[in-house]
Amino acid sequence: MDIKFYKCIIDESKCVKCGACSTVNLCYSPGACVGCLSCFFSCPYEARKIVEDTSARREIRVEIDDVEYSMPERITVLKAIELAGYSIGVYPNEARIHAPCRTGGCWSCAVEINGSLERSCITPLEEGMKISTDVREQVPLRIVHGPEPHTVGGKATPYYEKRRGKFIEAAIWVAGCNLRCPQCQNWHVTYDNITEPLTPQKAAERLTAVGDYYGVSGLAISGGEPTLNRRWLVEFFRALKELNKGKKRRLHLDSNGTLLTPDYIDELVEAGCNNIGVEPKCVSVESYMRITGLVDGELAEKYLKTSWSAIKYIVDHYGDRVYLGVGLVYNKDLVSLDEVAKAGEKLASIDPEIQVCVLDYFPAFRRRDLKRPSVFEMLKVKKILNDTGLRKVIVQTQLGHFGP
Ligand code: FES
Repeated sequence: MDIKFYKCIIDESKCVKCGACSTVNLCYSPGACVGCLSCFFSCPYEARKIVEDTSARREIRVEIDDVEYSMPERITVLKAIELAGYSIGVYPNEARIHAPCRTGGCWSCAVEINGSLERSCITPLEEGMKISTDVREQVPLRIVHGPEPHTVGGKATPYYEKRRGKFIEAAIWVAGCNLRCPQCQNWHVTYDNITEPLTPQKAAERLTAVGDYYGVSGLAISGGEPTLNRRWLVEFFRALKELNKGKKRRLHLDSNGTLLTPDYIDELVEAGCNNIGVEPKCVSVESYMRITGLVDGELAEKYLKTSWSAIKYIVDHYGDRVYLGVGLVYNKDLVSLDEVAKAGEKLASIDPEIQVCVLDYFPAFRRRDLKRPSVFEMLKVKKILNDTGLRKVIVQTQLGHFGP
């Protein structure tokens, strides 16, 4: 088989020594790049280049699911699994290994290496490794930030609970995302591959403790993208439900919706999730690719479609059990007002009572040149959406949220 290998090198002309590669996203193979590309995706100054690596490689012996293989050195464990013939996918349950972030945050790709759970996407393959892809006996893990109380909430926090200056939710934020938004508003969490991961039970206990301390009505999980590690997320909601029995709490998932297939939604609701935020962001695939940084048009279309379908599915099947909030985004460099109107019409045709929250994208991560929309522009966005028939429209602005 003719395999091409790649490595990342620093583009010194762009590197500003910001330190993100030592404080947010660490290299797990310093000096001998294994081509995981984690540093390429996470560098805020795009100071990494991918180049073909034609240098000589020796073969090393490893075991995968009790079968011995000879593999080229300087590759990731994930690459070795792929070379061994296993399928790798981005949707949970579509392939043997689910590897949607590939930057070390979500732990979806975790396999057992010499008896311990480890992320296959960033772990260098080593001579003699014993790898097992069956991790059902292992407790799932994920990198978690927080919990912290906050006063604003997310796109699905009910508008009538928002009270200026009062804590309304406690939240955690999980690392890893399947999108590559150049203006990622939370990139320090999204690309974190350093923090020690938590079990779902531990994360639920910590979040509940902070929620109890501040006396809030909602407990939320955001990201990054929480849905990437399905087993972890479902177990997290089960634990949260158990810990909050009789407390009448909103158990809130804040998602981009890209992986929220009907069976996944059913499983989450069954586990206790009763408040879901879905963020299709826009309606056209072109805008979606511009916003999310995705370069695979087919995948972008699939993600966008899944996200919109999730909204309809939740309204049709869980209208009485789940409080739904939809996220759109606005910045004139990314989405036109015409497209905002189209998104509004599409939502109003599903249900004019859906809560819609529009984020005003401000400069962050790789789009430091983006100009934050003015309050006036955001109020115009609100009027456009209200004119489509939507009654619960909230817009985020520099002066705070303006709601119904
Ligand atoms: S795909 Fe490996 S940590 Fe997310």
